[in-house]
Amino acid sequence: MIGIFYFSATGNSLYISQKIREKMGGKIIYIPTYTGNGSEFDKIIVVSPIYSAGLPVHVYDFLPRLDKEKELYIVLNYGGMVGGADYFAYEYARQNGLNVKSVFALKMPENYTLTFTVPNFYLKRVLESADKRIERVISKISRGEPALPKKKRTKEKIYYKNKANWHLIGERFSVSEDCIGCGKCVGLCPAQNISMENGKITFGNVCVACLGCYHRCPQKAIRYLRKKKRDRYINPRIDENLIGKNLD
Ligand SMILES: Cc1cc2nc3c(=O)[nH]c(=O)nc-3n(C[C@H](O)[C@H](O)[C@H](O)COP(=O)(O)O)c2cc1C
Repeated sequence: MIGIFYFSATGNSLYISQKIREKMGGKIIYIPTYTGNGSEFDKIIVVSPIYSAGLPVHVYDFLPRLDKEKELYIVLNYGGMVGGADYFAYEYARQNGLNVKSVFALKMPENYTLTFTVPNFYLKRVLESADKRIERVISKISRGEPALPKKKRTKEKIYYKNKANWHLIGERFSVSEDCIGCGKCVGLCPAQNISMENGKITFGNVCVACLGCYHRCPQKAIRYLRKKKRDRYINPRIDENLIGKNLD
């Protein structure tokens, strides 16, 4: 059986994982709650967003734990710029002794929209064309065709610099008077960085910058730097309640 391991805050990586499972079968597993090493699977596919030309903290911590014998396929997705993340991920996996067969990078709708707005027509266009890109990747994985990224000037430094500062994003979030105290953000945060005390939401200092709380608050009550931006993104082709779940 194939193990499809994913990290996702706004559903793009889950959507890709579901497409892979539709064509190839397998089990979908949410990385932050998985404690094993993948040895129960014949083949491992990791589906992850690109963060600052690198990987999310959870994926970065998860890869070295994986069974080194298993064939590993990494499917990254990004909103605008790969920035060498595919090569970075390949090198990182290789340095950790993993049996990397392929690394892909796929364009999906952008969710790093704290300071700018992506027009809806563009998000729609990217999403509409995504299936073709996903299918190409799936057929390469199915054929077992090796596809390794070429060495390029990576943005490793940007990645490490941002990673070291991601926890600070939590300090820049605040909750507006629209908050109804539903606690959804507390439950979905993969880093357990959000708590509710006496009905009031507070952010801790271990934010991983996934932006799940920001995008998925039903009241759009979570604000970044107190900006009154209203645009939020959740992949419209998935059931949002499945983000963070394992799917058999
Ligand atoms: C902290 C953070 C950093 C990001 N960095 C990049 C980046 O360097 N390049 C890029 O093209 N997209 C970047 N993105 C956008 C996501 O990679 C993209 O929207 C992805 O599809 C989101 O996946 P998800 O819906 O599964 O969470 C970033 C998003 C976040 C939250």
